[in-house]
Formats: sequence, structure tokens, C-alpha cells
Amino acid sequence: MKHLISPLDFSVDELTQLLDLASDIEKNPGKYKEACKGKKIATLFYEPSTRTRLSFEAAMLNLGGSVLGFSSASSSSAAKGESVADTIRIISCYADICAMRHPKEGAPLVASEYSGIPVINAGDGGHQHPTQTLTDLMTIRSLKGRLDNLTIGLCGDLKFGRTVHSLINALVRYQGIKFILISPNELKVPEYIREEVLQANNIEYKEVSKLEEAMPDLDILYMTRVQRERFFNEEDYIRLKDSYILDTGKMNLAKQDMLVLHPLPRVNEISVEVDSDPRAAYFKQVQYGVYVRMALILTLLGIKTD
Ligand code: CP
Repeated sequence: MKHLISPLDFSVDELTQLLDLASDIEKNPGKYKEACKGKKIATLFYEPSTRTRLSFEAAMLNLGGSVLGFSSASSSSAAKGESVADTIRIISCYADICAMRHPKEGAPLVASEYSGIPVINAGDGGHQHPTQTLTDLMTIRSLKGRLDNLTIGLCGDLKFGRTVHSLINALVRYQGIKFILISPNELKVPEYIREEVLQANNIEYKEVSKLEEAMPDLDILYMTRVQRERFFNEEDYIRLKDSYILDTGKMNLAKQDMLVLHPLPRVNEISVEVDSDPRAAYFKQVQYGVYVRMALILTLLGIKTD
């Protein structure tokens, strides 16, 4: 039984197969509409979500399966003190696969150790968000035509932004990847990412604080929200929340074929005027998230359609 806890749980070849499957689903959705008939996904969300939970549910429904779950810890028996280990033993009796989001780093990993069904990490604290990474990779591959030889700017909250941590982990395995890490000093990527991921893989990167300085070099700009829910005090959040606002003036500094990605939700970090720029890919990214989660469900359940 395979789980998806970290983006490294799939080799590069396995990732390619998964993205190929997602592309086929995009082109031939009818072929897959009954692929999961009789199967159920449980979405166990101990933290708020719009995209991840609903895209998992949409993915399973598109495959002809069913969904069950909870959307907050307070509406589950976690509120009465039930452990993640016990919860997953119960869910294993009700569903064939589950997606779990939890505020504690490592909770989906713990769940996978007690589970009788595949567990998907749908975001654990400030740690990892591997299915957002699959979404990001599909978006980049579909719109840029490649996952190698790219200069990628990651901008905003690189400390708490789990989507950034997962994306860096996944992309360092491709040739010719360079990163420009754009953040205030307090929100730089954690040391373990710098040392154990970037430096350990001899990846070219630089850390800057000005977005304007990085713009002309970028093939991809990955904007992120400052993660209010991970801050220890509100004052720091208020001071840092508007560190970067992408607007048309800054877009004018970028290449004509640069793409802007954002895992969403957006707060202030991308001005709405950028939405109509053809380089803004963040709403297309959401659609890719459904295809890639359909491919992931099929892969983890071992369902073949051909
Ligand atoms: N990108 C993402 O994880 O969005 P949600 O928090 O709405 O699921």
C-alpha cells in the first residue's frame, strides 16, 4: 500500500507517469467517469480549506466514486480527544482512501502508520503540501512544456509556507533549476531546506528581499500568502503581511512568457489588476489540481483504465 506524505514519495519517473495520467484525464475525462465506481474517499480536514478538500471531493466524484468526511476538528471526535491513530483505524473501515489536513506537522505520517487505506497528506502545519506540489508541477509542465531549465522565484512567506517547502523538494530533482528566494528576513526558508535540500543537491539559489530585483530573471513567479495562522503574535503578522504586492508595474519588469502561480487563497499579495494579465496562471492552476488529484487517487488505489 502506498501513501503520499512527502513529494519525495514518488520518484521522478513515477511523477512523470502521474502527470501523464493527469494530462490524459484532462483530454479524455469521459474515459475515467466510472473508474472509481463503488470507491469512497474520506476527507479528514482538521484545518480550513476550500481548494484542497473540495478538489479531492470533485476528483472522486468525477471518477464515479463517493465522498465522506469532516471539514473541521470541532465537528469530529478530535474535539473529544480522539487521537489521529484511532481516527484513521476507524476511517479505514469506512473508506478506500483518505486525504488528511492537520495543523500538526507529521500528523498524516502518523496516520499512515496506523492506516489500512492509502493516506494522502493534504497539508501538515508549516511542513509539506505534496498535492499542491503535484498541482504546481502539472501547471508548469502544461503551460511551459517542461520541468527543467527554469528560474523560479518564490516570494512571500517562505518560512511557514508549506507549499514552497514541498515545491522546492520536488523541483531540485530536475536539471537546470535555479531559485530566487524573495522574502523579508524574518520569513526566509527554514535552514533545513537551505542546507539539506538546496545545498545538498548543489542547486543554484539566491536570497533577496526586493521582488523588483528578481522579476526580469524569472520564468515562474510563485507568490505566497503570509500565513497568519502560523504566527505567534498578531503584531508581527501585521508588520509583515503586505511585504509584497504584485501589481502591473512589477509585471512590466517581467519576461513576456513568465508565469505567475499562487497556491491560493490570495489575500493582498497579488493585486486583482494582475488577474487579466495572460501570464496570471493561478486560476488555471486550480483546474489542474482536480486532474492531478484524480490521477493520484487512481494511482494510489492501483486502478488502471486501459
Ligand atoms: N492551496 C490550498 O491548499 O488551498 P486551501 O487551503 O483552500 O485548500
